[in-house]
Amino acid sequence: MEHSKTGTRELVIKTAVKVYDTPNMMTKEDQHLLAEAKAAMQDSYSPYSQFKVGAAILLDNGIILRGSNQENAAYSMCICAERVALSTADSQFQGVPVVAIAVTATSKNHDLNKPISPCGACRQAIAESEYKHETAMKIIMQGETGEVYEVASGKDLLPLGFDGSVL
Ligand code: THU
Repeated sequence: MEHSKTGTRELVIKTAVKVYDTPNMMTKEDQHLLAEAKAAMQDSYSPYSQFKVGAAILLDNGIILRGSNQENAAYSMCICAERVALSTADSQFQGVPVVAIAVTATSKNHDLNKPISPCGACRQAIAESEYKHETAMKIIMQGETGEVYEVASGKDLLPLGFDGSVL
């Protein structure tokens, strides 16, 4: 950390993103989780955006739960795939840490050949899960095709995030 004479300093926050050219380069376990996220897209209800998102989360006990985005004519009620999956974990497997999440999408309007990453609200939900279970959640991201991004924790996508420790 650089200290200057003026009493100001710069805090540099780095994010390490692991990039896989194809899913085949990942572990079998991670490939399976991504495949589950792809399968989850089948249940997406997205008539308004035509953007199907699939998520799959891996619990510490080995169980995998799927989630997909569920839209509503009242747009603000749309819920993202990641939070659907995390809510299932919260309501059915209370106390079991979530250790990984895979997210993928397909769009009627674009060729999604680069990874999509969780929206801000989902990052906050991931942060809450990590805080609650004191367990980092690996995040695996892919578009419909192409490279896969992986970060070790929700903290990597939400630096300086707000959590319950200050309350
Ligand atoms: N969506 C997700 O499911 N996850 C994200 O992280 C980003 C956005 C959904 C919400 C909405 O149904 C559609 O994608 C377009 O925003």
